[in-house]
Amino acid sequence: MHKILVTGGAGFIGSNFVHYVVEHTDDYVTVLDKLTYAGNRASLEGLPEDRVRLVVGDIADPAVVDPLVDEADAVVHYAAESHNDNSLHDPRPFLDTNIVGTYTLLEASRKYGTRFHHISTDEVYGDLELDDPERFTEQTPYNPSSPYSSTKAGSDLLVRAWVRSFGVQATISNCSNNYGPFQHVEKFIPRQITNVIRGFRPKLYGAGQNVRDWIHADDHSSAVLTILEKGQIGQTYLIGADGEKDNKTVVELILGLMGQPQDAYDHVTDRAGHDLRYAIDSTKLRTELGWQPRYRDFETGLAATIDWYRNNEAWWAPSKDGVEAFYAAKGQ
Ligand code: NAD
Ligand code: DAU
Repeated sequence: MHKILVTGGAGFIGSNFVHYVVEHTDDYVTVLDKLTYAGNRASLEGLPEDRVRLVVGDIADPAVVDPLVDEADAVVHYAAESHNDNSLHDPRPFLDTNIVGTYTLLEASRKYGTRFHHISTDEVYGDLELDDPERFTEQTPYNPSSPYSSTKAGSDLLVRAWVRSFGVQATISNCSNNYGPFQHVEKFIPRQITNVIRGFRPKLYGAGQNVRDWIHADDHSSAVLTILEKGQIGQTYLIGADGEKDNKTVVELILGLMGQPQDAYDHVTDRAGHDLRYAIDSTKLRTELGWQPRYRDFETGLAATIDWYRNNEAWWAPSKDGVEAFYAAKGQ
């Protein structure tokens, strides 16, 4: 049995990970989360109190971080400012949390010799042309486009430097776009599902040709547990489930699954600097560590996600109006 410190465990992917750990291991979890607009206590409701504890605090505060890292066997670091559109509006919190927060955790892991796993994103590699036959691999050069992805790239480089210079026992994973329950309604898939539930039309940036490589959050969780158990210190692993879809196709699928005409959406102002395509080659994780995704049919996973938002309106409703007002002010 292990004690895992999960930063950002009240957010989308972090809370899915905590549920997954409780279901699939005997581990104890401490969640460290600042409960920003993106964090939600309700995402941890129903979990056993003798296995999961929530500490509300900032990962950039050593007085909070140090004792928690000291008592943990491993840190899994999800906490971040995570939304590209917000980073275009106000980049500063991205620097504070993604850079200084990661630095603070690394210093604590160095001090106490605690195993560290850093959760990162495929966006650090920039974007691909639609017809590029190559996908991102662990060897792809970093080339981030947005304030968000540049701070994630910076945090990855800090982890690599702390491994080499100070011997911190760290691994890194860079995953593609996640979908599933507990995702904030600012993000693409929940925004469109909740728009349809509310009777609004989905909003597609630009022509909708941008491609994202979708993976279910549970498959991300199983990959992270695999890396924690079997990953080699100092190594980076790319996580993906061969889920490339363009945004227009995803909106049409959501409309179809929700019984609406497939053209009942609006084209809106495009995102500045909008990355065209992400695609992950996860051969290293699959061949070296034996990981496989479980969700292979995007439409089935999407239908279950739609059901979750239909059944959990109380979870997302408090955020919906504010998010839509933010987007409306930008013509989106
Ligand atoms: P999210 O925005 O849903 O959750 C982030 C969580 O971090 C929230 O609970 C928030 O309260 C917490 N947090 C923010 N600042 C904090 C601070 N200073 N101290 C403590 N807690 C803080 O994000 P997400 O989509 O779940 O992403 C989680 C991680 O996974 C991020 O590191 C992100 O870069 C990475 N990632 C996300 C995706 C995706 O598709 N969403 C894909 C690949 C990687
Ligand atoms: O690739 C991993 C990344 O995936 C993570 O690192 C980020 O934390 C996560 O937010 C996500 O980034 P994206 O920018 O790809 O996700 P988002 O949900 O914001 O947008 C997905 C695509 O949909 C993108 O091409 C923009 C588009 N979009 C988004 C919104 C909110 C729309 O067309 N309409 C919308 O309303």
